Amino acid sequence: MPMRVGIGILGGGVVGGSLARRLLGDRASISEKTGLDLELVKVAVRDIDKDRAFPRDYVTHRLEEVVDHPDVDLVVELMGGLEPARSLILRALQAGKPVVTANKELVAADGPALFDTAAAKGVSLLFEAAVGGGIPLIRPLMESLAGERLTRVLGIVNGTTNFILTAMDEGGTSYEAALAEAQRLGFAEADPTADVSGADAAAKATILAGLAFGVWVDQGQVHREGIERLDRGDLAFARQLGYVVKLVAAADRNPTGVSVRVHPTLVPRDHPLAAIRGATNAVFVEGPAIGQLLFSGPGAGGEPTATAVLGDVIDAARELLAGAQVAPRIRFNDRAVGDITSNTTRWYIRLEVADAPGVLAAIAGVFGSAGVSIASVWQEGRGDDATLILITHEGPESAHREAVKQLMALDVVKQVAATIRVLLPES
Ligand SMILES: NC(=O)c1ccc[n+]([C@@H]2O[C@H](COP(=O)([O-])OP(=O)(O)OC[C@H]3O[C@@H](n4cnc5c(N)ncnc54)[C@H](OP(=O)(O)O)[C@@H]3O)[C@@H](O)[C@H]2O)c1
Repeated sequence: MPMRVGIGILGGGVVGGSLARRLLGDRASISEKTGLDLELVKVAVRDIDKDRAFPRDYVTHRLEEVVDHPDVDLVVELMGGLEPARSLILRALQAGKPVVTANKELVAADGPALFDTAAAKGVSLLFEAAVGGGIPLIRPLMESLAGERLTRVLGIVNGTTNFILTAMDEGGTSYEAALAEAQRLGFAEADPTADVSGADAAAKATILAGLAFGVWVDQGQVHREGIERLDRGDLAFARQLGYVVKLVAAADRNPTGVSVRVHPTLVPRDHPLAAIRGATNAVFVEGPAIGQLLFSGPGAGGEPTATAVLGDVIDAARELLAGAQVAPRIRFNDRAVGDITSNTTRWYIRLEVADAPGVLAAIAGVFGSAGVSIASVWQEGRGDDATLILITHEGPESAHREAVKQLMALDVVKQVAATIRVLLPES
C-alpha cells in the first residue's frame, strides 16, 4: 500500500505549473517507482483566473491556506522573491512540515537561518533546483562529496547571460542586440538586471560556496561584475586569441579565506566550459581525490526544474514518513570570507594608447614596477588610435589592480578600455 503525502505548492507559474501537472499526471508511476502516493492538495497563485497547466480546482489565492491545510504534509515554495516566501517557509517549518524550494535569492540571503529552523524542528529544507535548474548539483555537493576536501567550484550558472554571450561571440552582435534577441525568445526577462548584473549568478555562487566550503558569504561580499559593459570588440579579440568570454561564477580558498566571485572570464576554446552554449549551465567541482567533476545540463525551464523539485519532494517525503531527517546535512562555520585581491589571477587588458615612440617601454615599466609579468602583447591600428591588447602571466590580483591604476595615470595611455580575467587551469 503506497504511503500518502499531501503536497501544497506556493506558486503555480513556470516551475510550479509544471510540478502540479507532473504530480497529477505521474502520480501512479511515481507511486510504482517510489512507494509514495504524492497527492496534490492546493496550489497558491496571485491571479486565480489565469489559465493554468493544471485544473482550476486546485487553485487558491490564500497562501496561508496552503501552508496550514490539514491535508498538506509538505510545502513546495515556487513563488520566488524574499517575502512573503521567507515567512511562509518559516511558518511551514515551525508547523513541522518539510519544505522544498527553488528560490536561490532567498536561500542565498537567508540560508543558514532557514536551515537552523528546519534542523531545530527536525524537518527537511531542500533546494536542489536553486542552482543549475534540472542539473543534480546540490545533492552531490551536500552528500556524495561531503567527504572530499574541495578546492574550487566554478562554472556557468546563468543561462540568460550565457545565451547573450554566445550570440555575441558566434554572431558578432552587440550586447544590446543579443539582449533584445534573448528577450524576444523568452530567455531574458523584460527587466534583465538580476541576470546581466551577475546578481543571480552571485546568489548561486554563494550557495555553491556554502556547500563546498562551509562558509556562507553575505551577498555584499561576493565580488560581482556583470556583462552589461562588455564590448563585442573584446569578444572578437578574445576569439582571435583562442578564447571565448563567459560569465563565470567561482569559489575557492585564498590565503585570507573563501573567495566568491562572478565576472566575465576569458576561457580557452579547448576548455570544456567554452563549449557550453546558449542557456545551458555547467559547473566544475574540484578536489584532490576526485580531480575534476563536470555537471552540465538545462539550467532552467519549467520541466527540467520541476524534475529537480520533484526529486527533493520524494526525498523529503521519504524522510517525513521515516520520521527521521538526515540533519543537519551541512554545517556552516565562521571561517573568514576571502578578499579577492589575495587571489592569483591573469588579466586580458585592452589599452587605447598614443602611437608614439617609447609607449611600449612606458607600459612595460608600469607592469614591471607593479610586479606583473606580461605574457603576450598585440597591437591593432596605427596613428592616433592604436589599441594594445595584453595578456598577463599569473600573479596577485592586488598587483594587477596596481598596474591598472598606474596605467591610467600615464600620459600615453588614453584609456584602459577593458580588463577581463583569464580562467586559470586550477586554483
Ligand atoms: N523558471 C525557471 O526556469 C527556474 C529555474 C530554477 C529556479 N527557479 C526558481 O523557481 C521559483 C519560481 O520561478 P518561476 O519561473 O516558476 O516563476 P513564475 O513563473 O513567475 O511563477 C511564480 C508563481 O508564484 C505566484 N506568486 C508570486 N507571488 C505571489 C504572491 N504574493 N501571492 C500568490 N502567488 C504569488 C505567481 O502567481 P500568478 O501565476 O498568479 O502570477 C506564479 O504562479 C523562483 O524562485 C525561481 O528563481 C526558476
